[in-house]
Amino acid sequence: MSLPLRRTRAAAARFFFRNFFHGLLIAASAALWLVPLRLLAPLLPTALPVWLHCTGIAVFYAINRSIVTERRARFPAALRIYTAFAFICLMCMAFLLVSSVLWGSTHVLAALSQGLFPQATAGLRSSVDATFGLVVPLGMMAIGSLMVFGYTFGQRQLRIARVSLPVAGLRRQLRIAQISDIHVGQNLSRRQLSGFVAAVNRLEPDLICITGDVADGPRSNLDRYFPLLGELRARHGVWAILGNHDHYAGAERVAAALQRVGIGVLCDSAATLDVDGQALHVIGLDDRGRDWARGVSSAPVLDELVAAAPAGVPILLLSHRPDIFSQAARCGAVLTLSGHTHGGQLAVPWFGGRRRNLAELVTPFSRGLFARDGAFLYVNCGLGVTGQRIRLFTPREISLFELAAPVPERAAVPSVVPEFLNRAAPEIA
Ligand SMILES: [Fe+2]
Repeated sequence: MSLPLRRTRAAAARFFFRNFFHGLLIAASAALWLVPLRLLAPLLPTALPVWLHCTGIAVFYAINRSIVTERRARFPAALRIYTAFAFICLMCMAFLLVSSVLWGSTHVLAALSQGLFPQATAGLRSSVDATFGLVVPLGMMAIGSLMVFGYTFGQRQLRIARVSLPVAGLRRQLRIAQISDIHVGQNLSRRQLSGFVAAVNRLEPDLICITGDVADGPRSNLDRYFPLLGELRARHGVWAILGNHDHYAGAERVAAALQRVGIGVLCDSAATLDVDGQALHVIGLDDRGRDWARGVSSAPVLDELVAAAPAGVPILLLSHRPDIFSQAARCGAVLTLSGHTHGGQLAVPWFGGRRRNLAELVTPFSRGLFARDGAFLYVNCGLGVTGQRIRLFTPREISLFELAAPVPERAAVPSVVPEFLNRAAPEIA
């Protein structure tokens, strides 16, 4: 791809993501009006005038805007149901748009070939109309059902992923638990968080790492939730880094609250740990809260932090965004732990046990395990949610890494490993 084309593409992507939330608000307002109307179309005696459509969408826009701009300490159940309905309508509208483009293309094709096959095109048109008349409402109902599943059962699933990795030079096995993207706030109850903390403690790790987005935003009540995080137990400590949402919530406020409950915060800094005779150098990068959709593929401070590490000591890197992996592998970090993507939060089953997900639009490292030049990256799907309390084929996740010296006869690890390499091991809790 040429340089001007790359720049144009990058500028278009920046514009799209900078205006993403405002665009989403407009699209959701249109969806709230158009999708129910489309489903009720057979019951309507006549087509509605354009002015009524514009008014309906404008009214929903005013309602939605007032919901997102009002500062609420708590989000009532009725509002949660309304926003969930809006999100379902949005997904249905996306399906409706794709279907309409397909339907329109088929009709254009039929019009172009009418002179050649007049009878065949008439038949084609009527069968296409009949098919779409059936497929569109059925498709929207299927999408609605999947989303309802995501809001109810999907978001309650918790996966504990056990990942065994070979690390050269280790004298003893290290057990490291990772949690990420907790997003304490309106979408997480104290009871839920308490359950997650107990689940992590049951794994009895040597070390616990929290890879950012502990808070959700400025309204997150840290005093209500952080004492529960203080109950995390690991023999060699609990270490956290900040994510973009921690910066939205106030980086200094979040870091201070974490330290008050006994959690070490690594903010472009490092700590060398002695895990029962095995040294481990843990580096934590700050996120700085830049555009949520932008990957950060290089950090000059990482080179400095690696250069300052004791010679021969394995390096564990904590970076909220995963796109740093190339630099991390080049620097010699044996394992990089990241979050940020939530595994897309919404995914669909794909071939080979994969899950295609929304985060693939913003990063090649959307979820799971990746390997390059003997170094590993793990992207945790997160414990919390952002925006909507929904997860589809993307359970909340606690990951447990068992690092041990490589066994000589074991086959070489491929350069890029698909997500959930140790598929036999994960437990579904
Ligand atoms: Fe997050």
